[in-house]
Amino acid sequence: MIGFLKNDARANEVVKSIVDAGGKAAAVAADLSRLGEVTRLFDEAERAVGRLDIVAANAADILVKPLAECSEADYDRIFNTNSKGVFFTLKEAARRLKDGGRILVTSTGGTKLFFPGQSLYLGSKGAVEQFVRCLSWELGARGITVNAISPGPTETDMMQDRYRDKAAGMSPDFSRHQWPHAQERARYSGASAADFHRLPFSSGDWTPDTCREATG
Ligand SMILES: NC(=O)c1ccc[n+]([C@@H]2O[C@H](COP(=O)([O-])OP(=O)(O)OC[C@H]3O[C@@H](n4cnc5c(N)ncnc54)[C@H](OP(=O)(O)O)[C@@H]3O)[C@@H](O)[C@H]2O)c1
Repeated sequence: MIGFLKNDARANEVVKSIVDAGGKAAAVAADLSRLGEVTRLFDEAERAVGRLDIVAANAADILVKPLAECSEADYDRIFNTNSKGVFFTLKEAARRLKDGGRILVTSTGGTKLFFPGQSLYLGSKGAVEQFVRCLSWELGARGITVNAISPGPTETDMMQDRYRDKAAGMSPDFSRHQWPHAQERARYSGASAADFHRLPFSSGDWTPDTCREATG
């Protein structure tokens, strides 16, 4: 089940690519900044496929603005999607996943770098990395692994024009839709490439290294 906010064309492209490869998939619109929408997405996913094996929390919003100029509305917009939305996605995943399941959260390598103008975005992602560390302990006994993956700059809809040239210099494999090619990124991060591919599918032992860098 693929969740999206407003871009149904892109979501349907993903569904088509899975179906073309022989899988089953559907897309559902859900605003994950609202708790009721998080639970509805899980309800619809369970209706479609039964109890879940894997949950990936990937949705995020970005705002680039000096901290001194950020409003309460800016704070709510970014934290409601990036932190609250992920927190309640993790809560539903913890309650609904089968034992032995897999939870993956997309953070960002930016949490280690602290760029100016990104206090809300990077703060919201820092919170998520801590949720992941705590939940990994709580679910370890059920054989459920919880990991964050932190990509470096990647050419997606989120990439802003002002960062494009600099980002391309920071990431050796910066180009559209590149970051899932974990082998390349792992080579630069010092992690084992197998780690990234294994996360959702292996029997995967619990590891204290729950937040994996996949940056350029
Ligand atoms: N691009 C980078 O350089 C980079 C680097 C490090 C980490 N990341 C992380 O990678 C993940 C994927 O981002 P991306 O780069 O692929 O950017 P993207 O193309 O802008 O994707 C963001 C996705 O989040 C969805 N979304 C946003 N707000 C939502 C909400 N309130 N409820 C439900 N869905 C919502 C969007 O849905 P719609 O398409 O329907 O609007 C979109 O599918 C994010 O967690 C991001 O922080 C990106």
